[in-house]
Amino acid sequence: MTLQTKRWQRTTKINEQYHVIEEAAALLKDQQVVAFPTETVYGLGADATSEAAVQRIFEAKGRPSDNPLIVHVGDRSQVEQLVTHIPEIADKLMDQFWPGPLTLVLPSNHKAARNVTAGLDTVAIRMPSDPIALALLKETGLPLAAPSANRSGRPSPTDAAHVQQDLDGRIAGIVDGGPTGVGVESTVLDCTTEVPIILRPGGVTKEDLESFIPNVVIDPALADQAEDQPKSPGMKYTHYAPEAPLWLVEGDDEFFQHQLESMKAEGQRVAVIASRELVGQLNHEYVTPCGSRQQLTEVAGELYRALRYYKKADVDVILCESFPEHGVGAAIMNRLHKAATQKITQY
Ligand code: TXA
Ligand code: MG
Repeated sequence: MTLQTKRWQRTTKINEQYHVIEEAAALLKDQQVVAFPTETVYGLGADATSEAAVQRIFEAKGRPSDNPLIVHVGDRSQVEQLVTHIPEIADKLMDQFWPGPLTLVLPSNHKAARNVTAGLDTVAIRMPSDPIALALLKETGLPLAAPSANRSGRPSPTDAAHVQQDLDGRIAGIVDGGPTGVGVESTVLDCTTEVPIILRPGGVTKEDLESFIPNVVIDPALADQAEDQPKSPGMKYTHYAPEAPLWLVEGDDEFFQHQLESMKAEGQRVAVIASRELVGQLNHEYVTPCGSRQQLTEVAGELYRALRYYKKADVDVILCESFPEHGVGAAIMNRLHKAATQKITQY
């Protein structure tokens, strides 16, 4: 599969912006696959009502076909066209959090293409807030299926350059909107159960949801040693993997430094991903600071860039700090646990 991937550069000129949207929308209407920014990560979009278009997403990503996709919509009437009904709680959550990083799993009426939902009776839907994403939804008039625009298993792209690294020659185009803001994917919330369940922690936090669903829980199957299959099919696959093995360090700063020093003493080429606070205490060359541990939204914004930074040829292992699990920290740690090949625990 080799395509000439068109890359539309960022522009601040209104008439140029319009042409970009018009051209990208024309490709999407022609059943092609186009990557575009959302407020979370870049998405790989295709017409969610066309099985042939959606099939191209799976091929470009190398994604297992039993892993369903999120449908992106530009207005509420598009939701009604895809579901049997909208539960009351879902309606309230849309009022509060849309457009934004919250995906709602709703009862499907099977109008979305079969491969979007991977044969499930539910469909996952969200309204993104990025202006380019919204403009494409409006211009095409289509619901757009869009997983993260990375090759399957790799960290999600937070920049157009990441999409190009993974998918150049495999998709019709990339709309460059600069770096994304939130940095981790949307929260996936199952609204088909009596009490909604968080299937994937993300940009809208559990604390945010608690004002509407006081007893909301994160799917227990996502926990480290869980025996049950997670309800969100995608959560069982290897994900977010950097090129070199990632070791997640759970302990205090002194413990981290000790690990680093002993691995260096063994002659290993060690890279570090850590908060600015910890990096400031290390005497080490290969470090990628990713925000402040006091500001987890900064860490979320930098995380995938950091995971993509080190190349296999340059390092033997990446040591990564663990972060508090409150707020967006739940999403950060969920991704790091999945990216890690090993955990080193002090306690
Ligand atoms: O922020 C995001 O959500 C990004 C941007 C592009 O919108 N998209 C994204 O899509 O992260 P993807 O395909 O990488 O992840 C979708 C997740 C997977 O874990 C998948 O299993 C789950 O949503 N999912 C999709 N449909 C589902 C359904 N009907 N029931 C349960 N889980 C579902
Ligand atoms: Mg993904």
